[in-house]
Amino acid sequence: MTDRVIKIGFIGAGAINFGRSHVPWDHASRLEQIGGIDVVGIVELDEKLATSVLQTRKSSAKYGCFYRNCKIFKNFKDLIALKPDAVFIGIPPAFRGSFSEGKDLELQFARAGIHVFVEKPLSVLPPEEYLPYAKAVSDACKEKNVIVSVGYMFRYHAGILKMKELIKAHGGKVMAFNARYYFAYTKAINKYWFNEDFSGGPIVEQATHFCDLARFIVSDVDTDTIHTLLLKDSDPSNAGHLAYVPEQAEDDIAPQKRIPRVTMSHWRFKDGGLGTLMHSVALPGTRYEANIDVQLDGLKLSLIEPYEKDCILRVRSIKNDEANQDQDFTFPSDDSYLTELGTFLTAVRNNDPSLVKSSYSDAALTYQMTWSIRRAT
Ligand SMILES: NC(=O)c1ccc[n+]([C@@H]2O[C@H](COP(=O)([O-])OP(=O)(O)OC[C@H]3O[C@@H](n4cnc5c(N)ncnc54)[C@H](O)[C@@H]3O)[C@@H](O)[C@H]2O)c1
Repeated sequence: MTDRVIKIGFIGAGAINFGRSHVPWDHASRLEQIGGIDVVGIVELDEKLATSVLQTRKSSAKYGCFYRNCKIFKNFKDLIALKPDAVFIGIPPAFRGSFSEGKDLELQFARAGIHVFVEKPLSVLPPEEYLPYAKAVSDACKEKNVIVSVGYMFRYHAGILKMKELIKAHGGKVMAFNARYYFAYTKAINKYWFNEDFSGGPIVEQATHFCDLARFIVSDVDTDTIHTLLLKDSDPSNAGHLAYVPEQAEDDIAPQKRIPRVTMSHWRFKDGGLGTLMHSVALPGTRYEANIDVQLDGLKLSLIEPYEKDCILRVRSIKNDEANQDQDFTFPSDDSYLTELGTFLTAVRNNDPSLVKSSYSDAALTYQMTWSIRRAT
């Protein structure tokens, strides 16, 4: 028996949905690989971009057939009218995640019974304004039997899943969690990353993946214990000054409103252990660097460069014959975006929300954590 074809639509024809040079993400290409889809619409404000993206996709000998019926719209309500099975919302958070007219996409799709894959972060509103909206989305999902998956793809990463497996097998509690995310900024092609009002800032927008992993690997965080230090462009020492910001991305942003150059935060998990996060904006080029260390009594797990194909999980364990010895695990064929999207389509086909590792209500807790870090200075 062949799988049922899933009618899908995209909101946004930008980098996350259709890729761009130098970035590993591109949902459309992964969905094409998975197959069993019929793309019925692309909603995009920039008509020229949408037309060019669609032309490129249609011209593929192998995958062009998925776009035969695809129409271009400017308003997401036109896509709702086509009643797709699922929609992939990949527009910046300032345009969604809110009761405001035209920004309540998740809610409108859920109320129409259409399954939703939505990117992080869930909003840019302060949590006290956002949480009633999150509740309305979750309530609509329950009422209409709608599955929402949020784009925390690292929850599907083979290295992260191995870490969770090893922690469980070792037993005991995580004592320490430390994540580092170094943003490569000198060729950052998206101006909105530099605008905190628009993106939410580096923790809400980028390091959110690592806050989410702290919650996924260890436990929820006691947000009252969070403390954060920031190094800003306006720091009198001048240590936060950046000389290589591309294309005048910050010229129209006042120094005190520019994104923090370094964010260092620490907290206590509800499970008892301690966590730290460092985000910096200093690396040249486009290659980010990221690492996660987790320690339990007698076990250390270091996930080195989870964004890269040659990612390593380095393990030191009391259970090894030689306690000073590292054991390395590699995951050369892993593609967490592919697993994430494949899992979402399977969940939709089988009407089984339990397959999804990042639900809307759970991701709302990560959103709250990132705002607590942003504010706890
Ligand atoms: N999970 C990941 O690894 C990952 C990676 C990259 C981006 N993202 C997320 O994806 C989202 C989009 O980022 P991007 O890099 O694709 O941005 P982008 O600027 O490349 O593309 C966004 C597109 O959305 C369009 N748009 C804006 N408002 C719209 C609306 N109301 N209706 C229709 N189209 C609209 C814009 O015209 C633009 O073309 C962000 O939330 C970002 O955080 C996630």
